[in-house]
Amino acid sequence: MTLEQRAPARVSAEANRNAEDTILELKGLKTYFFLERGIVKAVDGVDVSVGRRKTLGVVGESGCGKSVTFRSVMRLIQSPPGRIVEGEILLHRKDGDTVDITQLDPRSRQLRDIRGAEIAMIFQEPMTSLNPLHPVGRQISESVLLHQSLSRQAAQERAEEMLNRVHIADPGRRIGEYPHQLSGGMRQRVMIALALSCNPSILIADEPTTALDVTVQAQILDLMRELQDDFDSAIVLITHNLGVVSQMADHVAVMYLGRVVEYAPVYEIFHNPKHPYTIGLLNSVPVLGRKDENRLVPITGMVPSPMEEIQGCAFADRCPEAMEICWEQSPDFKEHEPGHSAACWLHD
Ligand SMILES: Nc1ncnc2c1ncn2[C@@H]1O[C@H](COP(=O)(O)OP(=O)(O)OP(=O)(O)O)[C@@H](O)[C@H]1O
Ligand SMILES: [Mg+2]
Repeated sequence: MTLEQRAPARVSAEANRNAEDTILELKGLKTYFFLERGIVKAVDGVDVSVGRRKTLGVVGESGCGKSVTFRSVMRLIQSPPGRIVEGEILLHRKDGDTVDITQLDPRSRQLRDIRGAEIAMIFQEPMTSLNPLHPVGRQISESVLLHQSLSRQAAQERAEEMLNRVHIADPGRRIGEYPHQLSGGMRQRVMIALALSCNPSILIADEPTTALDVTVQAQILDLMRELQDDFDSAIVLITHNLGVVSQMADHVAVMYLGRVVEYAPVYEIFHNPKHPYTIGLLNSVPVLGRKDENRLVPITGMVPSPMEEIQGCAFADRCPEAMEICWEQSPDFKEHEPGHSAACWLHD
């Protein structure tokens, strides 16, 4: 057999292996907003994957497309003006079945089943996903009833059990309370209980602890990790906090202006960052235990507008290492070491 004949088989075996370890795969995802004053390219070619039962940390400055990327996965992009214009969002199920979420009708039963039962999302501000008019217990039991065939009584018991699981004291009483009667930390726990009530295989947490004080923040993160172990869920953790990423994540995706510019195991990101933007992010926050802990160097300049047409690398004008080619051509995002990818000419 010639090499040419063997090659495709090897590629497909590799793809299968990937699907076994990978639960979610975004390929060339583009989500744009079509406004009167122009097109906002909020997500402009994102490639990233999430490992089964693993935690992916997603970081990057404000406006770089973190929320829009994962709201696209949930198909929660308001349309119009927003639309997924290109790419694939592949959900690899345990049974070997793969669905491309971009191909589903937003009103379809299939998408409704995926949302909540397979992929759940929690948001920075719990009040946006909790209904102020209904007791919290009922919100959980309704969601359970939507996805599982249980009796009302059993769903109610499940709600109470979930409140218990997220360490809410006296769940029997809390179940009848309204969101405004709970503290911020408790509301966040209710939201986690709601998200996990249908045992999703992926939990997307968009800045889940930003509004909370440090102690409660630590408790919520512990809780997420504990629940991940119990429920075998994968977590996508979107955060500005690199300290949180270092504690929680297995892999990290660094986003800049609608693209992932670096992706690697967490250790690599902190100890062997390849993209000058990642290095900039690391240098602009104190990271405990690092030698030069106190030498903070903010990244100069600002993120360009996602409406601008940019020639070359989008980071070039802020990059201390920019070379001639960086102004001319945008670098491809590719693997430079096993499992470590970056979009940067320095490594080509
Ligand atoms: N509904 C919308 N209409 C128009 N533009 C939008 C809309 N939603 C988001 N955008 C734009 O898309 C870009 C990416 O936004 P996104 O919310 O994903 O950023 P982010 O990385 O989550 O930022 P942050 O860290 O502040 O949460 C921004 O430029 C934002 O202004
Ligand atoms: Mg956001």
